[in-house]
Amino acid sequence: MHLKILVTPGDGIGPEVTYEAVEVLTEVLRDTGHTYSIDQRAIGGIAIKEFGTPLPEETLDAALSSDAVLLGAVGGNEFNALPPDKRPEAGLLAIRSALGGFANLRPAFAFKELAVNSPLRPEIIDGADILFVRELLGGLYFGQPREWNKTTGEAWNTMRYTRDEVARVARIAFQLASKRSNKLTSVDKANVLEVSQLWRATVIEVAQEFPSVTLEHQYVDAMSMHLMNQPKNYDVVLTENLFGDILSDESAVITGSLGMLPSATIGGKVNLYEPVHGSAPDIAGKGLANPLGAILTGALILRHSGGLEAEAAAIEASVRKVLEQGFRTPDLMRGDQSKAAEFTVLSTTEMGAKVRETVKELLGSEIIR
Ligand code: NAD
Ligand code: IPM
Ligand code: MN
Repeated sequence: MHLKILVTPGDGIGPEVTYEAVEVLTEVLRDTGHTYSIDQRAIGGIAIKEFGTPLPEETLDAALSSDAVLLGAVGGNEFNALPPDKRPEAGLLAIRSALGGFANLRPAFAFKELAVNSPLRPEIIDGADILFVRELLGGLYFGQPREWNKTTGEAWNTMRYTRDEVARVARIAFQLASKRSNKLTSVDKANVLEVSQLWRATVIEVAQEFPSVTLEHQYVDAMSMHLMNQPKNYDVVLTENLFGDILSDESAVITGSLGMLPSATIGGKVNLYEPVHGSAPDIAGKGLANPLGAILTGALILRHSGGLEAEAAAIEASVRKVLEQGFRTPDLMRGDQSKAAEFTVLSTTEMGAKVRETVKELLGSEIIR
C-alpha cells in the first residue's frame, strides 16, 4: 500500500496538531512496511495572506491528485469582519465541495480515562460510543439564494436538500449501522421544516433496503438534550449539515474535550480528514493544543483511505494507553481537581511524541500484528 497524503495545516492550532498527527501516521506506515508521500499546501487564513485566496489553485490540484487530505483547521479573528465568501472558512467549504465527500463521519468515543474530565457523571458517559454521520455538502451551507442585503437590512440563507442528496448519505449511515449495532437515529426538525419532512421521508424509504437496522427519529432540539442525559442510547446518528455541526461539538462534552474528536469525510473523489475542532485562536502558538483528535484523524486515514484496519487500531490503542498512563494535555485537566496529582500534563509536542513512542512499542509487540 502506497498512500499519497496532502496535508493542509491551516491556521491557529491547525499546524500544531497536524504536525503531531503526521509524525504518528508516518511512524505507523514506516513500521508496518507501507510507503507514503506527504505533500503540504496552504489553506485558509494563511493562504489568504500568501495567495490572496483561501483555497489556492495549487492546493486544490494537489488535493485532487492525492489519496487523502488531512486538514488542520482554518480561521482567525483577523478575518472575522470579511464576508462569508472571502473568509478562511470559505476555503474549507470549497475544498469539501471539490473533493465531493458528502458523508462526514464524526465518531464520539468516551474514553473511560477521561470520564472525570466531563461535567457529566461518569456513569452517564462511560461506554458511550456514537458515530455521527453529518451530511456535508448540502443544507444551509451551500443552498442558494444567500445574501445579506445591507440596504434593506435583510439577510437570508436557504436550507435546501434533494431526495438524492439525502438518500446517498442515509445509505452510508445505514451501512455503518449494520456493521455496528444495527441502530440508527435520524435527527431532523420535521415538526417545522419542509426540508426535514423530505429528509425523514427519504430516510424511511432508504430504511427498506436495510431491514436489520432499527430506525428511530428525533427532533434536533430534543436530541441535543437526550445526548447529554443518555448518550449511551445512541449509536449511529444521521443528520443534516448544520445540525451535525452543532451536535458533534456538543458531543465533546461526552468525550471530555473538543480536542479529542476526529472526522473523516467519505463518498467523494478524495476523502477529507479533519479534526472536529477549529483553529482555537485563544490557545494557538502556546503548546496547549490537544493533538489527540488530529492523531485519531490520522487513524481514520489509515482505516478509510488505506484499508489498514490493524494499523488504525494501533493508533487508537496507543491513544488509550497514553491516557491510561495518566498523560494529559491541559484541556483534559478540567473537572475533578482532587485527582489532578495523578496526571502528568504534557504540551502538544510532548503528547504527540508520547503517542508515537507508544505506537512504536505496540507495533513491535504481538498484540497488534
Ligand atoms: P474552536 O473549535 O477553535 O475552539 C472552541 C474552544 O475549544 C476554544 O476554547 C478552544 O481553545 C478549545 N479547543 C479547540 N480545539 C482544541 C484542542 N485541540 N485542544 C485544546 N482545546 C481546544 O472554535 P471557535 O473558537 O468557535 O472557532 C475558532 C475559529 O476556528 C473560527 O474562525 C472558526 O470558524 C474556525 N473553525 C474551523 C474549523 C475547521 O477548520 N475545521 C472548525 C471549527 C471552527
Ligand atoms: C466544522 C466547522 C466548519 C463547519 C466551519 C469552520 C466551516 O465548524 O468542521 O465543524 O461548520 O462545517
Ligand atoms: Mn463545527
